[in-house]
Amino acid sequence: MNPSAAAPILRLHRIRKEFVPSGGSAFLFPSRRRRSVLAVDDLSLQVAGRETYGLVGESGSGKSTTGRIAVGLLSPDSGEVLFRASPSCDLSRLDGVGRGLQMVFQDPYSSLNPRQRIGGALEEPLVVNTDLSGAERKKIVLDMLKRVGLSEGDALKYPHEFSGGQRQRVGLARALILRPRLVVCDESVSALDVSIQAQILMLLKKFQEDLSLSFLFISHDLRVVRYVSHRIGVMYMGRIVEEAETDTLFGEPRHPYTQVLLSALPGARPRGERRTAGQQEAKEVFDRPDPRGCCAFHTRCAWASERCRAEVPPLRSVVDGHRVACFLIASSTAP
Ligand SMILES: Nc1ncnc2c1ncn2[C@@H]1O[C@H](COP(=O)(O)OP(=O)(O)OP(=O)(O)O)[C@@H](O)[C@H]1O
Ligand SMILES: [Mg+2]
Repeated sequence: MNPSAAAPILRLHRIRKEFVPSGGSAFLFPSRRRRSVLAVDDLSLQVAGRETYGLVGESGSGKSTTGRIAVGLLSPDSGEVLFRASPSCDLSRLDGVGRGLQMVFQDPYSSLNPRQRIGGALEEPLVVNTDLSGAERKKIVLDMLKRVGLSEGDALKYPHEFSGGQRQRVGLARALILRPRLVVCDESVSALDVSIQAQILMLLKKFQEDLSLSFLFISHDLRVVRYVSHRIGVMYMGRIVEEAETDTLFGEPRHPYTQVLLSALPGARPRGERRTAGQQEAKEVFDRPDPRGCCAFHTRCAWASERCRAEVPPLRSVVDGHRVACFLIASSTAP
């Protein structure tokens, strides 16, 4: 059974986040008017217990902003973040500890103290957040090192003594040491070689089973997201434009942008030979158009009509569990 049928553990409801430029030097780009960026707009998603929800989209589409909002590192301008049915975005603990939320970044090395041994770094969250004795903490740290495929001896090493893949194991161990319910992985394997990526992804799957974990898995790499996710949300300029179970998304992509994304995969040919006008003629745009009040993809979509330029297409259900934000697609439910 797909875990998404279970009760949601994390729910983002109509999240909006705009970054407004502050002052800055008047000598840099004096002629260019700095405008605000609508990083996330009216975004809703939910992640169930033991589910991995993949968030994909090109650079700047708002994936990291969404992840940071989910764990409470960033507050949304509006909308709700609900974690296990309790409002979480107003809690002051920035790292989400205590709410059972953690985040793993692309390179956890940057958040490790180069002069602290790994054992100490892993023990720190336990010292700060629990009343466990030194012996109990040590047992948990050594057990976690083994779980992520490192050895007890690694506890005495410093961060620079680890390879990229090992560092990511350390990052995972640190995120999991307080036994969170949900982990946000933001490009957590993107910098690794393919074979090392596969090892870390298998580890994530194992942890999901062993520890009943949920993941919000963020990546621009569709193959990686396909491998780990039960469901996938495709983001384009701050909005989810399509959401479906993984097999459905890859087998029957509906949104022209999703079709463009999938057609870029080696050997991919969604729905046999069928190619849409959007797919054939998607244009490159190098300037970020303002996505307010229109379908943000209209500048690249060969099918765009007047309506696409004048209205935001709502994310509507086309069949059970498959939602698409496109005026071209007939929906099963009224907007
Ligand atoms: N702190 C910030 N201040 C100003 N603008 C920001 C800030 N953080 C993000 N942005 C802008 O918001 C938009 C979304 O950024 P975000 O980092 O969420 O995208 P992303 O999908 O994670 O991209 P990438 O794949 O490159 O990591 C971008 O245009 C970015 O420049
Ligand atoms: Mg990012």
